[in-house]
Amino acid sequence: MNNQKVVLITGSSTGMGKETALILAKKGFLVYAGSRDPKKLEKLNTKNLIPIKLDITNPDNIKEVINIIKKEHGKIDVLINNAGYGLVSTVEDLDEKEMFDQYNINVFGLLRMCKEVIPSMRKENSGVIINISSFLGKIGLPLLTLYNSSKYAVEGITDSLRYELSEFNIRVHSVMPGFFNTNFAKENLVTNFNTFDEKSPYAKTVSKLAPVIVEQINNGNNPKEVGSMILDIIENDKFPARATIGEKAKKFIPMKKELSDEDFERRVKEYYNIG
Ligand SMILES: NC(=O)c1ccc[n+]([C@@H]2O[C@H](COP(=O)([O-])OP(=O)(O)OC[C@H]3O[C@@H](n4cnc5c(N)ncnc54)[C@H](OP(=O)(O)O)[C@@H]3O)[C@@H](O)[C@H]2O)c1
Repeated sequence: MNNQKVVLITGSSTGMGKETALILAKKGFLVYAGSRDPKKLEKLNTKNLIPIKLDITNPDNIKEVINIIKKEHGKIDVLINNAGYGLVSTVEDLDEKEMFDQYNINVFGLLRMCKEVIPSMRKENSGVIINISSFLGKIGLPLLTLYNSSKYAVEGITDSLRYELSEFNIRVHSVMPGFFNTNFAKENLVTNFNTFDEKSPYAKTVSKLAPVIVEQINNGNNPKEVGSMILDIIENDKFPARATIGEKAKKFIPMKKELSDEDFERRVKEYYNIG
């Protein structure tokens, strides 16, 4: 066993997870890059990067991965909860499975990871947990109630865990990205069939908002920026509890803090030409 820091990232095959894994591996961390399809990462063949099959909906698989890492290295220094996807649906169109799946990945999956990693960090009296939330974890939008509320939950989990774990010297942070050009809009925005029916009573909102969101994600910031921020968080033990990154987060989060709820809502409606 040596002093190399061990990192585990969820959802690493694309986007922010992949870029973070590459940046940390290059910096000398030993990175376990979790993915439902680790073959995608094997092609990278990068020093310090170990692709590993990880499905955050499967508690047995999570335990197995943690045990492999602990057996090899005795510890996990950093957990990065990155895996997530977005459901685009009105609330009245939601079915049970859609509701459950959104929270199962974005919220329960993250909690399952924390639950399994915390005991080893607690024994080491050291650790960093970084939750990838979103600027949408602080603001609402139509059609994104499930996604945004799942990210609000991530914000709440971060705040509570910070209290729970500080006596064990475990830092917990949330990163709230604006829109970033990843695989998110291409493969990980799941749409509800009825919401996107042209006869839906919400058709006007769908036609105004959905293409703009997709366009803003595809023209968003570079996910490497998130990787660099995560490196900063790991290396700087005075890093703030939460950080915003990317143009949209920098625009909306301060505005949300400054304005009344109603004024903020008016600004968002004007900006997206909705409501
Ligand atoms: N892109 C944006 O504009 C944006 C903005 C704010 C926040 N975020 C958040 O940033 C995180 C990373 O997203 P990204 O933008 O990098 O998008 P991405 O390229 O689509 O990557 C998301 C990763 O999450 C995992 N994932 C997606 N759906 C999943 C499912 N049903 N079950 C298990 N894992 C699943 C996938 O990992 P594997 O396929 O490797 O398992 C995928 O590589 C997410 O939590 C997202 O909500 C994104």
